[in-house]
Amino acid sequence: MSQPSGNVMDKIVALCKRRGFIFQSSEIYGGINGFWDYGPLGVELKRNVKNAWWNDMVHARDDMVGLDCSIIMHPQVWKVSGHFDLFSDMMQTCRQCKKLYRADHVGPELAESKWFQAFRGLVAEHQEQPASQDFVEQWAERKGKKLAPGLAPAIKAIGRVDERLIEAGRNQTLAAKLAVYCPNCGGDLTDPRPFNLMFETHTGALQEDENKAFLRPETAQGIFVNFKNVCDSTRIKLPFGIAQVGKSFRNEITPRNYTFRSREFEQMEIEFFCHPSESGRWYEYWRDLRMRWYTELGLAGSRLRLREHDKDELSHYSCGTSDIEYAFPFLAEGDFGELEGVAHRGDFDLRSHMEGKLVAKDGQLVLDVGPDGKPKWKGSGKDLTYFDDERKERFVPHVIEPSAGADRGTLAFICEAYTVDESRPSPELMKFHPRLAPIKAAVFPLVNKDGLPEIAEPIYRDLRKRWPCQYDAKASIGKRYARMDEAGTPYCFTVDGQTKEDGTVTVRDRDTGHQERIDKSRVAEYLGRHLHR
Ligand code: GAP
Repeated sequence: MSQPSGNVMDKIVALCKRRGFIFQSSEIYGGINGFWDYGPLGVELKRNVKNAWWNDMVHARDDMVGLDCSIIMHPQVWKVSGHFDLFSDMMQTCRQCKKLYRADHVGPELAESKWFQAFRGLVAEHQEQPASQDFVEQWAERKGKKLAPGLAPAIKAIGRVDERLIEAGRNQTLAAKLAVYCPNCGGDLTDPRPFNLMFETHTGALQEDENKAFLRPETAQGIFVNFKNVCDSTRIKLPFGIAQVGKSFRNEITPRNYTFRSREFEQMEIEFFCHPSESGRWYEYWRDLRMRWYTELGLAGSRLRLREHDKDELSHYSCGTSDIEYAFPFLAEGDFGELEGVAHRGDFDLRSHMEGKLVAKDGQLVLDVGPDGKPKWKGSGKDLTYFDDERKERFVPHVIEPSAGADRGTLAFICEAYTVDESRPSPELMKFHPRLAPIKAAVFPLVNKDGLPEIAEPIYRDLRKRWPCQYDAKASIGKRYARMDEAGTPYCFTVDGQTKEDGTVTVRDRDTGHQERIDKSRVAEYLGRHLHR
């Protein structure tokens, strides 16, 4: 049995398409970059991830309530939160092919680009600077390298290489740090400039600045602006949390790595409100609890890690932020990608929505004011403080924010589940945790005759009342098992000739391939026990 390696991501992507986990959005029109659709198996998987989160974080707790807020909110929300002024990435544009890049992605993309790799071969063979376009063309011809049409402009760039590029050609690590030339065509890049990631739209018929609105880039702000509503409409007392699952939108400059960085994605966010004196303890509690959640659902081992931010990475108002990270197979060896951030946010958000946009000055949060001394963006002016009956104290609660991505979580569960077992006739299987498996069980008659379907169908109909199950009477039994292994179905029940004699069926375990016989009357009880073990 082997764990994923090498071009494993290509295999995972191929399986996800072939078996209906994930499709490219609008594929028949060539797709649209940064958008994805979940197929019949994927929608069940992602829903199971969200349901597991909602169940464990909301239903199983006395100190959590839920919300479902609108995607488009009052534009002032984003001005006060800082997203309007500050939610941007630095971007560069190629003057030649007009491609846009996130500035910090240029180096790594350059290092991987086809033309740069070809150029590295050239530099390796010729220590002196390759001088001209002719030289490069002759080199390519001699090596039998066909330069793809898209690489033709790159040759021009190579024809005027500078020392930095030659040096980068000798040293792949340096290349990943250098944003010298366009990874696509080798053309010149503009200087980095900020690009706001919020998608804009307009409310109402007139496309005017006054009607400009934004698709939310995070679900969190809906929670902050409803803090008072929740306090007033429920009997919940501090410390308590508000949870929300929903779509967020970011106009990422370079969406990449499958669903990892998308332009439309789902978040599962909690804002946990507490007394300032207890916020350090609650931060540690949520950091550890969220890490355990992933571990218990199968992301165990060295591919999952908790990374505490260094003190100098923290916002001035925060006494801690941690990222829960996973070593996705599309990343370089030793690299990790963020699944969730757990942040201590102090009273920053509630205070901003009361007073206006805040900035840090001399270690304090103060109102961001314009040249005229007036607040740049005014808050709601509403009182968002909390009166604690027991302490007899009024204060602005501190907030701990565990903020997870549903799509990134789902992708990590897919990558972790993907297993190759060469000893099986069909070696690929998905070892999902039973709570996450899209289909919980399958029922097969060994052959589609001899009275076997008449026994198998009622078993299936009974199971289907409680769990998503499938009935399959077509193809050889080996093929049917393989189909279920690829879908990640933990158990298959098969009715065969012996069932007619002694009433037993075989149950096959996905992970071990082990089979045992149980009485057909015990199938539901067996499945219930094993799914919830
Ligand atoms: N309210 C805090 C917040 O939004 P964030 O780190 O920007 O924090 C939280 O986002 C989580 O949302 C990330 O850890 C990630 O799982 C997910 N996420 C963010 N941007 C994403 C994107 N472009 N595509 C997919 N998931 C994304």
